[in-house]
Amino acid sequence: MKPVLLLTLVTGLFAAQAALAADPSDLAKAKNCFGCHSVDHKVVGPAFKDVAAKYAGQSGAENKLANKVVAGGGGVWGGMAMPPNTQVTPAEAHVLVKWVLSQ
Ligand code: HEC
Repeated sequence: MKPVLLLTLVTGLFAAQAALAADPSDLAKAKNCFGCHSVDHKVVGPAFKDVAAKYAGQSGAENKLANKVVAGGGGVWGGMAMPPNTQVTPAEAHVLVKWVLSQ
């Protein structure tokens, strides 16, 4: 009797990982951050460059801001509060805030 050769096809398993490597600005676009923010000028919310300048060198800023992106909040930049961004997971909020703080 001839041996049976089994070929295992694993190609499909790699496809799911590709989406995670995307540019954070694409994530910001997908999560609608640019509906209220721009990198270099105030829209409804502050310019991301101004946010980066305000929190430069502050330890704990990333955690604080990531929580605020998910939960929403106001009182820092003026009259308007940011509504909760419930489409953003805590992990995504950290990716976004890290990117904001690098502007
Ligand atoms: C509906 C409008 C709106 C959307 C959508 C929005 N923001 Fe905001 N954002 C604001 C406003 C208004 C403020 C100012 C809040 C304040 O004064 O405390 C703000 C503030 C911020 C701050 C600074 C917070 C602070 O305490 O200094 C960060 C960081 C931020 N937004 C990130 C994001 C990210 C990332 C997204 C996308 C997931 C997003 N925002 C979506 C309106 C928005």
